[in-house]
Amino acid sequence: MDKMWAGRFLKNLDKEADDFNSSIHFDSRMYRQDILGSIAHAEMLAECGIISNSDCKKIIDGLKSILCDIESGALEIDCCAEDIHMFIEGELTSRIGDAGKRLHTARSRNDQVALDIRMYLRDEAEEIISLLLDLIKAVLKKAEKYSDAIMPGYTHLQRAQPIYFAQHLLSYCFMFIRDCGRIEDAKKRMNYSPLGSCALAGTSYPINRILTAEKLGFDGISLNSLDGVSDRDFCVELMSAFSLIMMHLSRFSEEIILWSSFEFRFIELDDSFTTGSSIMPQKKNPDMAELVRGKTGRVYGDLFALLTALKGLPLAYNKDMQEDKEAVFDSLDTVKKCLRVFAPMIATMKALPENMKKAAQTGFINATDVADYLVGKGMPFRSAYKISGMLVAKCIEKNTVLEELPLLSFKELSDLFSEDIYESINIENCAEKRTSAGGTGKESIKSQIKYVKAFVNGKKENTQ
Ligand code: ARG
Repeated sequence: MDKMWAGRFLKNLDKEADDFNSSIHFDSRMYRQDILGSIAHAEMLAECGIISNSDCKKIIDGLKSILCDIESGALEIDCCAEDIHMFIEGELTSRIGDAGKRLHTARSRNDQVALDIRMYLRDEAEEIISLLLDLIKAVLKKAEKYSDAIMPGYTHLQRAQPIYFAQHLLSYCFMFIRDCGRIEDAKKRMNYSPLGSCALAGTSYPINRILTAEKLGFDGISLNSLDGVSDRDFCVELMSAFSLIMMHLSRFSEEIILWSSFEFRFIELDDSFTTGSSIMPQKKNPDMAELVRGKTGRVYGDLFALLTALKGLPLAYNKDMQEDKEAVFDSLDTVKKCLRVFAPMIATMKALPENMKKAAQTGFINATDVADYLVGKGMPFRSAYKISGMLVAKCIEKNTVLEELPLLSFKELSDLFSEDIYESINIENCAEKRTSAGGTGKESIKSQIKYVKAFVNGKKENTQ
């Protein structure tokens, strides 16, 4: 097949080089955006008097029929074409003849591809936000369902202070809310049309870039033609937002893996989101969470692949930039798959509050509260801290817990202790009294739930 750029070449492209050069395997997914972009371009060319209305009509009808045929399966995308842009233009010309050859007036594949990818990612960004919302809803529902469950909160993976399970779950809701915000931000910056930047320098045809931008739902046009065709910062920005989503999912996965182990037994994943072992009949493995954790590295890798591909490129277009698509599509597809499995995995997961409570009752997670008790009686915090530490040492020696230590043992270290110490170090009370804004106390949890609910129902601006 003759290349569209044939003319100055005396030989055909080498077969291996042709395969190497081709991007149709991965850019064919942008066929829709390519066609819509071309329709808008043709309309603009006609409105500006650059092509005739009758050619414009033929082009639009032809492009619409191609779109229909690709979607119905009647037209198969030819893997031998160099890329989706060439394929559609070639198909158009074979359907409508010379009028098809006029479509590429005042345009280059450089601004065409920059346009297509923006349009494609703009739609996909919406999908990611909607998947994030599904996940937030699933986590929120669990937080509400288990609002009374108390668990040990950890630092350094050592039991630290009692918290409500809901507090832990809600923390992820806020992370995912910020993830939505990052995608929204990236989307805003990407929504400027590069079409009309042409190869690199703009054009001498009297085009109207604002018209095509408006037809295609952009907020405006890119203001410098070199910038319009050269940068892929919007891909990088989106991929870094994807990397953060994955980082959050991966931490959550790590906890789900720990919590579902026999050592913790804080949760049980549903059978439909776990797998068995081929040899050990007792096993119920959290494969989905492990895969999400594993795929995080891949999404980070995609981000770095593109950043690295871009870093040494002189302006304007270089073929290296074709590498943007495999990287951004792979990271997009991976995040989508992860979110699609994560939300129902959370929705079907069962918490085991009894086990959480048991864990909360050991590990001296009320030691801070012993110190706070003494502070309440007038002792400076540092002195109170020391006494509490000594009491913990005493408990370890006697193999007991603070709640069961006799009052006498408390009094040996300070006269300020009296019977009400037991009330103060009761695990439920310890969680409940952390009433500071954002703390684990019930009132705070209630207001967090209210915020997250309003956000998922679209009634709250993202202020996180
Ligand atoms: N397939 C190319 C890409 O994805 C399209 C742009 C080609 N431009 C060029 N000057 N060769 O980047």
